[in-house]
Amino acid sequence: MASGSETSQPIQAGDPMMPRFLRVRRALKETHDTSTLEFDDSNAAPHFAPGQFNMLYLFGAGEVAISISGSPARPETLVHTIRGVGSVTAPMLRSRRGDVVGVRGPYGSAWPLEEAARTGCDLLLLAGGIGLAPIRPVVYEVLRRRRKFGNLIILYGARTPADMLYRKELAQWRTHPGVTVKLIVDRAAAGWSGRVGVITDLLGAVQFDPAETIAMACGPEVMMRFSYHGLLRRGVAAERVYMSMERNMKCAVGFCGHCQFSPVFICKDGPVFRADRLEPLLGVREL
Ligand SMILES: Cc1cc2nc3c(=O)[nH]c(=O)nc-3n(C[C@H](O)[C@H](O)[C@H](O)COP(=O)(O)OP(=O)(O)OC[C@H]3O[C@@H](n4cnc5c(N)ncnc54)[C@H](O)[C@@H]3O)c2cc1C
Ligand code: FES
Repeated sequence: MASGSETSQPIQAGDPMMPRFLRVRRALKETHDTSTLEFDDSNAAPHFAPGQFNMLYLFGAGEVAISISGSPARPETLVHTIRGVGSVTAPMLRSRRGDVVGVRGPYGSAWPLEEAARTGCDLLLLAGGIGLAPIRPVVYEVLRRRRKFGNLIILYGARTPADMLYRKELAQWRTHPGVTVKLIVDRAAAGWSGRVGVITDLLGAVQFDPAETIAMACGPEVMMRFSYHGLLRRGVAAERVYMSMERNMKCAVGFCGHCQFSPVFICKDGPVFRADRLEPLLGVREL
């Protein structure tokens, strides 16, 4: 019988399962349960496209899929916004400057930004809660390459005003010409003078040409389902709507089958899907 050392394989350079170890440069508290961690990635800095995600590994806790929420133009600063909901993400939020986290990726499909840039069409972004994190790199790219795109409409909903991410940036984004930002909360609080309701209420408050608009949605699945049907009712063709799916992931490279639904692997065929391809999966519960 072969010994353990004879059977174990050396780790290959470029092994998709091998993390690189990055130090936290800055930890920024966004809300009571969500923080943004910035990592120093100046040595490896692989290019990523808006919508892609990494697997983040915390020693002694485990590994989770987290979208990249920073700017593709600054890959040396890797940015992730994490909501502490369980056994890995909650302790990960306690990371401080200098702490080390394992990172592998980037993985998955991207938002159709290049298609939008080619046609110069308008973009309608719908985000719910932490769903603004994978949408933020789209905003950064559109503002950086402003003349390539038409109007930018951002609709963002959160449970309460205190649950809103990136509040300073939201206020700053709306000062750009051709950019509209509309916010809504499920429950108001003292000082909130904005709208109360669900994100689809905001769809009626903005003007856009459905034939010249690409829509991108990310958030709780129920929000995406209603947004999709709201967009169809406004005349946006299903082929112009994209959504990002969340499913439990282990390998992130199509090996383990954890994220598989029929022939689709959310990790490598998604997480971003064109809505007409995704429709049969919406509402399918995790195994
Ligand atoms: C492509 C992709 C991108 C993602 N991007 C982001 C992102 O940018 N930011 C982000 O924050 N998240 C993101 N997620 C979600 C993130 O991966 C999950 O939140 C994470 O995997 C949760 O892992 P955990 O081990 O911390 O939680 P787990 O311990 O697995 O808990 C998950 C859920 O189970 C519940 N739970 C935990 N323990 C118990 C218990 N003992 N009893 C009952 N219920 C319990 C929790 O409340 C939670 O709802 C993304 C997921 C995918 C697939
Ligand atoms: S996470 Fe393993 S196949 Fe998708």
